[in-house]
Amino acid sequence: MSAIATRTLPYGEAAIADAAAVIAAGGCVAVPTETVYGLAADATDSDAVAGIYAAKGRPSFNPLIVHVPDLAAAEAIAVFDDAARALAARFWPGPLTLVLPMRPGAVARLVTAGLDTVAVRVPAHRAMQALLRACGRPLAAPSANASNRISPTRARHVLATLDGRIALVIDDGPTSAGLESTIVDGRTAEVLRPGPISFADLFPGEGRDVLHTRLATGPRPSPGHVTAPGQLASHYAPTKPLRLDAGEHREGEWLIGFGAVAGDDTLSAIGDLTEAAARLFDALHRADASDRAAIAVAPIPDDGIGAAINDRLRRAAYR
Ligand code: TXA
Ligand code: MG
Repeated sequence: MSAIATRTLPYGEAAIADAAAVIAAGGCVAVPTETVYGLAADATDSDAVAGIYAAKGRPSFNPLIVHVPDLAAAEAIAVFDDAARALAARFWPGPLTLVLPMRPGAVARLVTAGLDTVAVRVPAHRAMQALLRACGRPLAAPSANASNRISPTRARHVLATLDGRIALVIDDGPTSAGLESTIVDGRTAEVLRPGPISFADLFPGEGRDVLHTRLATGPRPSPGHVTAPGQLASHYAPTKPLRLDAGEHREGEWLIGFGAVAGDDTLSAIGDLTEAAARLFDALHRADASDRAAIAVAPIPDDGIGAAINDRLRRAAYR
């Protein structure tokens, strides 16, 4: 792909109008959501969706999430039963993605990579909400990073891997949740990807053992065989080796601390998991850009959103 000039505009009416024009013309735009920055294009336009895959260098067997402004717009794309509607009512707008049967022809086939289900989400962030309403179209948006690289929680993280590959980034500061949305299979209530909405949020009152069996543990998908997409073992990867559960700093490492383990950088000195989630990807971006050859991360408890943090860290460490 030949390099194009990537513009960055602060969030506001002018930026949204500009972004909507780029999308109407079949382009893609990086826009913040409450989880991570997304790379958005018209989900009904195959060529526009192909542009997302091209900019990310993403294997086309990995399907994309479709963003809509509200439940009514979601029901135009996916088939909801009462259980799915109840989940939507509890968590939308917000960081929950539901995988549901797709209404035929609702979005370009490339979005779902040929599956007969579709992943839908109603984001809460003002910039993505404003863009959805300005476009009047469902927007397909994966995280705005080159395939297999760390997800972006700031505009400059987007530029780190997509500068020269996309037309526009809307900058509205750091994202609040910091981890990609929780993905739930709306038919079985299985968690396909842990995220900001924790097991305990989803299934209040259920014991820890039951909660863990709710995590889908299917085989890893291989090209052409999507069983549980989003479960690729290596994902969100920094370019350097990463050591988990590090209690101490070793020679040549950049240590990311948590709680009592102080590092070169610290996710949360007071051991707050929500603060740690919001800072995780920024810390990984900084570790990757540091002058050390390797990265280590302190142990993170598996409670609440800690399960999603550990999920991302295991994938980042996988080689
Ligand atoms: O927070 C988020 O979800 C962000 C923001 C931008 O909304 N988006 C995001 O998209 O993380 P992406 O493309 O990086 O991850 C989408 C995940 C993939 O792991 C994909 O395999 C899974 O959703 N997925 C998409 N459609 C699916 C389907 N029909 N069935 C199962 N998994 C699906
Ligand atoms: Mg991603």
